[in-house]
Parts: sequence; structure tokens; C-alpha cells
Amino acid sequence: MHSAPHLPTWLEPQLARAALLVNDRAPVAAPDAMYLGIDLGTSDVVSVVVDAKGAPLAVALEWADVVRDGVVYAFYEAVQIVRAQIAQLEAKLGRRFTHAATSFPPGTDPRISANVIEAAGLHLAAIIDEPSAVASLLGISRGAVVDIGGGTTGVALIENGKVVYSGDEATGGHHVTLTIAGALKISIDEAEQFKRQNGEEAWDIARPVFEKMTDIVQAHLKGHAPVKTLYLSGGSCALPGVQHLFAEAFSEVEVILPQPCLYLTPLAIAATARGAA
Ligand SMILES: Nc1ncnc2c1ncn2[C@@H]1O[C@H](COP(=O)(O)OP(=O)(O)OP(=O)(O)O)[C@@H](O)[C@H]1O
Ligand SMILES: [Mg+2]
Repeated sequence: MHSAPHLPTWLEPQLARAALLVNDRAPVAAPDAMYLGIDLGTSDVVSVVVDAKGAPLAVALEWADVVRDGVVYAFYEAVQIVRAQIAQLEAKLGRRFTHAATSFPPGTDPRISANVIEAAGLHLAAIIDEPSAVASLLGISRGAVVDIGGGTTGVALIENGKVVYSGDEATGGHHVTLTIAGALKISIDEAEQFKRQNGEEAWDIARPVFEKMTDIVQAHLKGHAPVKTLYLSGGSCALPGVQHLFAEAFSEVEVILPQPCLYLTPLAIAATARGAA
């Protein structure tokens, strides 16, 4: 695992803590101040509770097919999953949640995610586009944020901590899985497991898909003032060659990949709830 330079020292320990807490239902004594963030993704719905310092206290994750191309399309199922996750977090922490922050891919309608949260019985604490949430958590004032999720690769240019340009392409981890399934002549479910458990072998097969993603990102950043730093996020960046490939493709740019990357965007959304309180 690459350790990322120029990151706040607390970040990777918090991400590791989030990974450790996933679907851990063991009850704990909860502090007074807690903040909930909910990431509705193409591959998974992730709810994260943080304390007053932004450290994770509880994490619920369900692999789910309720979002396509970044947008919720299975509204009822999404609400059911969020309700179940709230119940799971409340049981662990012994407290009720009334508010949550959520997010949306830049360029999409924020009301879609907001409606899911409200239909699940919560008030909206904050709503933010995903790269701005990451930029805020990492304290990025200028740079590119590239989020390679399950269904999409999101590219955002940040200036003064805000998104000034963004684009989304429908290539993500699912395409990586399909490529592996095709190459190894196995089912999609088997390919998904293979990808997560055999990173090095999966990378050899997946590399061309990621090369296409670097092309996509380059095309989006073309015509803008060059950035010095590119931050990677999203579960698909877990494959072992991703950071190096981006560093090769963007030779003048420092490429930073906080690990475990699956939790960066959800943690950033929870931090937004804390910031709004
Ligand atoms: N260990 C791993 N190695 C490789 N890929 C992984 C690993 N763990 C998760 N992934 C991939 O990460 C993707 C999910 O990442 P993430 O949760 O960031 O996406 P999402 O937010 O649901 O999707 P999107 O942002 O496109 O809406 C899936 O395609 C999954 O296969
Ligand atoms: Mg995502």
C-alpha cells in the first residue's frame, strides 16, 4: 500500500478505522456529538458516523444496485437500505439520528439524494457534491480530484476549495469486473471476488481499462490551467497499479492516493455533516 505524502497525518488512520468498523454491530458507548453522512453509490451505500473530531465511530456498508451512472434509479430500494443502515447504526451507538449529510455527483440534481435521505426519515444536515467534500476533508485549495467508483469516473477541478469544473464518465469498477470476467471466462460475481482478492493478477488484466480512464481524465483537464496535484478516490483505486499508472500518465503532477480509498468519499461526506452542525 502506498502511503500518501502531503496528507493530514490523521487521514489514513481514520480511513483504516472506517475499514475496521464496517458492519461491526458491537454496541459501544457513544459520545454526545455524532454526525452521520450517507454516500449513495453505484456499487454500494455507505453510512459513516463520526465524532466531534471527525474520527469514525460506526460504518454501515451494503453492496447495492440502486444507483446507475451516479444517479439513484431504484428509489424505494435505496430508501429501504438507508433505513436499515440507520437502524443498524442506532443499535450500535444506542442513540437516534435525526439528521444526515449526503452528496451527489457534480452536474446531477442534488434533490435525488436529498429525497432518499428525507424519505428514510432524516432531515438533511448538508448536501455537497462529492469532489468538494473530498477537497474540504483534505484541505485542498487547488488540484484535481478523480473519483473512480463502481459505475463512474468523476473528474473535478478544485480552485479555492470549490469545484470550478467537473465531468463524469460512465467507466468504473464495474467495467473492470466485466473485463476480468471476459478474460478469465468466469461469471461477473466470480470476477468481482477475483478482483478484490487477487489484486496483482487482476491488475494485469485491468490495466487497459485504467489506461482508458487516464485518457478520460486528461481529456477533461485539457484546456484548463495545469494542476500540480491530483487526488485519487473511490474503491476502484484499490488495485495495486492505479497510483503508478496515473503518475506515469501525468508526469508533471503529484498523484496522491489515500488508502483504503473505498472510505474516503463516505468519510468526507460525514465530515460535511460535522461541518454543518
Ligand atoms: N479491493 C478492491 N480491489 C479492487 N476494486 C475494489 C476493491 N474494493 C472495492 N472495489 C471496487 O470499488 C468499486 C466501488 O467503489 P465506490 O464505493 O467508490 O463506488 P460507488 O461510490 O458505489 O460508485 P460511483 O461513485 O461510481 O457511484 C466497485 O467497482 C468495487 O468492485
Ligand atoms: Mg462514489
